[in-house]
Amino acid sequence: MNAGGDGYGIIEDGAVAALDGRIAWVGRRAELPGGWCARIEHDCRGGWLTPGLIDCHTHLVYAGSRAGEFEQRLQGVSYEEIARAGGGIVSTVRATRAASEQELLRQSSRRLAALMAEGVTTVEIKSGYGLDTVTETRILRVARQLGLACATEVKTTFLGAHALPPEYAGRADDYISLVCEEMLPAIHAAGLADAVDAFCEGIGFTPEQTTRLFDKARALGLPVKLHADQLSDLGGAGLAAQHGALSADHLEYSSRASVEAMARAGTTAVLLPGAYYFLRETKLPPIAALRERDVPMALATDCNPGTSPCTSLLLMLNLACTLFRLTPAEALAGVTRHAARALGLQREAGRIAPGLRADLALWEIERPAELAYAFGANPCVGRYYAGTVAPVSA
Ligand code: NIG
Ligand code: FE
Repeated sequence: MNAGGDGYGIIEDGAVAALDGRIAWVGRRAELPGGWCARIEHDCRGGWLTPGLIDCHTHLVYAGSRAGEFEQRLQGVSYEEIARAGGGIVSTVRATRAASEQELLRQSSRRLAALMAEGVTTVEIKSGYGLDTVTETRILRVARQLGLACATEVKTTFLGAHALPPEYAGRADDYISLVCEEMLPAIHAAGLADAVDAFCEGIGFTPEQTTRLFDKARALGLPVKLHADQLSDLGGAGLAAQHGALSADHLEYSSRASVEAMARAGTTAVLLPGAYYFLRETKLPPIAALRERDVPMALATDCNPGTSPCTSLLLMLNLACTLFRLTPAEALAGVTRHAARALGLQREAGRIAPGLRADLALWEIERPAELAYAFGANPCVGRYYAGTVAPVSA
């Protein structure tokens, strides 16, 4: 499926040829070059093939649950109040620090399996529930192991600047020094981070602290991305764009000026309708401005225990259409080609085009809008990773 005039790039009665894990040819079956005809390996029986889906923003390696905080929020306590009272991210940090690598691997592979069952072939996984060098490293090692064990590409992101750990209470600048001078260099030297992220927010880190981290990341040659403008407008998306970020994520409170900066810098917008829904947010991300300035809009689960305890990327398509008014074609592009861009993988995945890795999902649907239309449904009937039939579970 390419970006065509119909918004989907539909090829009716199509065929895909793959060689050595890469797409070699795609087009109408009647036009399949002679050499390929002799070697038909999979008859998709009239199903629809899309690029393998890409979940470009998750925190899926963690331990414990925050169902108790969910109950508190239903009683009227806000997400920020819970965080300021020592719960929130920090409560997951306590559970994650206490969990063994084995246990983290066990809990996380179940989450990854649920994503794979919906045709996901690439997942981004962030750290951020360790907040010390040992645990951040453990989380990213687990993420790497998931990538080796499952037929799915895992891109890792170091999110040491996710929250202030209790042992640094009142000393946020010192914690950022630890992140920049100890954690990030160690994690980079171990080859465990493909990118660097931070939470720029009143309950997270200031734009100045974020800038220090970004400068360090860039000095190490690592791309950056940012949790920006989720609960208030600190100019995070604009800051991310100034640093040439791959993506700015959340964006509910982003200003027009930040959207302009993203457009100029080529920064992808990652929309997270699961967190919007689960926090009962009412301020919508600036969809019209993003559209107008042609900022690519990706969609992701944000799978995490506090704001989006969800392992369904298909559900995000439905939420993005019903809550954010994306079209089903925009939503599908958001979990394929735009999600690839958010990870810097646009020459590797996210489209069915020659030269890209042969990652595909096969659906039993009658038209592509069905992927966004039905919620709680899973019409995925096949998954191909690098050209081979891949399990739909871990
Ligand atoms: O993307 N906003 C910061 N990080 C996560 C939530 C983490 C948590 O509450 O555990 C998010 O929404
Ligand atoms: Fe997140």
